[in-house]
Amino acid sequence: MKVLWNEEIVDETEVQIDLEDRGYQFGDGLYEVIRIYDGQFFMEKEHLDRLWACADKIRLTLPFERAEFSHRLHRFAEEVGIKEGRLYFQVTRGVCKPRLHDFPDPKEVKAVLTADIQPASRPLVKQKNGIHCGFVADKRWLHCDIKSISLLGNIMALDEAKQKGFEDAVLERDGIVTEASASNLWMVKNQKLFTHPDGELVLPGITKIKLREIAQALNIELIEEPFTTTELLQADECFKTSSVAEIMPIVSIDHQKIGTGEVGTITNRLLKAYSEVIKMTVQENKSEI
Ligand SMILES: Cc1ncc(COP(=O)(O)O)c(C=O)c1O
Repeated sequence: MKVLWNEEIVDETEVQIDLEDRGYQFGDGLYEVIRIYDGQFFMEKEHLDRLWACADKIRLTLPFERAEFSHRLHRFAEEVGIKEGRLYFQVTRGVCKPRLHDFPDPKEVKAVLTADIQPASRPLVKQKNGIHCGFVADKRWLHCDIKSISLLGNIMALDEAKQKGFEDAVLERDGIVTEASASNLWMVKNQKLFTHPDGELVLPGITKIKLREIAQALNIELIEEPFTTTELLQADECFKTSSVAEIMPIVSIDHQKIGTGEVGTITNRLLKAYSEVIKMTVQENKSEI
């Protein structure tokens, strides 16, 4: 498999990650996942905006200027040639010896970029049937707005849910629903859409940005305010969003049906609109080329 490793596109076996790479030792790094539809990056600008914003938050100097960064990702994607997939890339703060907790002087380290592309088709069957989730206590740190490669809190929550037989965890902090283990979380009540506001408790999702636009276009009122687990169990509909899962209906939580226990009307309208946006974006990009 071909991967991107800083300036080079190489076979994965050629990559050498130093033992003292701060990503490897401290989880000191950031990542992004961009959807590829018909060979094109979906919402690249927003993903790079978030990467740059997160890099500022952790005082990480990215290895390339933005135009060059984007160019390298595109060159890599062209070489790999996967038409429907997901691009994963991460940037660690780099190699710093000896191992010290202190942030190194940015002039003395170079951030390490790696990327790979995996085929991924749209999860249409699951979107039709919905998934079953369980509540898990959100015990992550208070920098959930940073797309950090340290995902231990998220993967422990997912594992807890899976151990109980659920497909994903709906995270709750002191009774307030924050998000899912790797997605933003939404509910529909009385035709209105609710989701947790951006801030330190959730990741500002790129799919969330798109859903804001879609909700507005469809005249669906969106309320970005915290809601409780009890309110969620009494909701009419529930779904999660992420670049990979897109809009994924959640039809039960802790074995309790949400609404009718089937994918709801508003969720279906949003799903349809999301598919149209994907198609339109791909077409517009093609006509620009
Ligand atoms: C914790 C968390 N929240 C939300 C999201 C959704 O983000 P996006 O829509 O940018 O994929 C993700 C995606 O990985 C995530 O890990």
